[in-house]
Amino acid sequence: MPDASNSLRINPDRMLAAFNELSQIGATGAALTGEAVSKRDGGVNRPTFSEAHLAARQWFRDQIEKAGLEFHTDGAGNHSAFLATNVIASEAKQSSTGLEIDSRRLAMTTPTLLLGSHLDSVPNGGRFDGALGVMAALEVLRTIKEAGLRPRLNLEAIDFTDEEGTLVGLLGSAALAGHLRHETLQNPRGGREALLEGMKRAGLSDESMLSAARSKDSLAGYLELHIEQGRRLERAGMDIGIVSAIVGIWSYRLIFIGRADHAGSTMMEDRLDASLGASAFTLGAREIVMQDFPNCVLNVGKMEFAPGAFNIVPARVDVSLEFRSPDEDEFQQLDRILLERAKQEALRFGLELRVESLGRHSPSLMSERIQHALADACNNLGLSHDPLISGAGHDGQSLADICPVGMVFVPSVDGASHSPREFTEWEDCVNGANVLLQAALMLGM
Ligand code: GLV
Ligand code: MN
Ligand code: MN
Repeated sequence: MPDASNSLRINPDRMLAAFNELSQIGATGAALTGEAVSKRDGGVNRPTFSEAHLAARQWFRDQIEKAGLEFHTDGAGNHSAFLATNVIASEAKQSSTGLEIDSRRLAMTTPTLLLGSHLDSVPNGGRFDGALGVMAALEVLRTIKEAGLRPRLNLEAIDFTDEEGTLVGLLGSAALAGHLRHETLQNPRGGREALLEGMKRAGLSDESMLSAARSKDSLAGYLELHIEQGRRLERAGMDIGIVSAIVGIWSYRLIFIGRADHAGSTMMEDRLDASLGASAFTLGAREIVMQDFPNCVLNVGKMEFAPGAFNIVPARVDVSLEFRSPDEDEFQQLDRILLERAKQEALRFGLELRVESLGRHSPSLMSERIQHALADACNNLGLSHDPLISGAGHDGQSLADICPVGMVFVPSVDGASHSPREFTEWEDCVNGANVLLQAALMLGM
């Protein structure tokens, strides 16, 4: 990296102004009830392809164009700012032969270093999750462009579609990496109807989604800044986390099927109550993980009862289950034990069990080379750092087997996330963005 780049820093005021503007889009609390801005709770509600999410995407596009960067989009609805390499083009302009080089062709044959995150949120989530990484990526490109540097690689600041899994999960990044399958789009975790409606609103389709794959050769790597979403950095008093691995996530819909009956006149012992299988499974699964799988976590995030009335014995309960592990073998073991337990509980209460697998994201290792670059960046900036395993899922998981991936974490106050309570000190956000910038310069110049 040229010496002058060592001292380059992002513009914190410009990034803050952009971050604050973005945080207004889909702001929750008073924003939902029409009260004063001061009563907002600091959260955002931008589920994939909701009105607020589409507005945030349009806002991002406007920012890119105002910054004089190229706007790119693809069939999966990923939006990005693009800063093409100009090394050879600039050299050619200065050369005595006056050779004309087609800079567009040059950009197309040069690998791209991606930087980014996502602008969608979980329902009533926080304003930092994803948004910080996209704003920092954009700010890095603006800083490099403004400094007149000539990157050896193309640089691209990307907002990936549906990272959170309102519809599918890691959707844009899986499509870009070529991992998205037709079958996944037919039975997405958010339901096919919701996916079809969302894609229609965004002008996308199954076909366009499946056409967004990029070649391995076109990608030089992927870097993402994100809030930690846990307490480890805060507890250790560390400035930066350098992610060594991202846990895998498997999700299922478990459907317990019993029989609807009158809730008053049916004897307790005569009922085929689907809620019993669902509840007993949930408690049992928690016990299994806590006793035998200390590195894993499990969540039942939703139960849907049908017909769903006070006075009808539940005929069907759909359980939304996901579990996470950093270790593939442990995953296989836990998976087998959990499904066995679901079968036992169904049997115990005379129920039928249907199992739908809704996604298997494997644990991913981050690139050693990028981890070193991130550590060097922290050292240059005088920031303390620790290696961390990410318990949250991230788009880097989709990309890790087609290009080197690295992630930078900044501390989350109280570890809060997926909640309006999510907060990171602005100084930490700026530190993280400067680490991203320095690492991008090391890898991209
Ligand atoms: C995304 O934030 C996830 O980990 O579910
Ligand atoms: Mn996120
Ligand atoms: Mn999230």
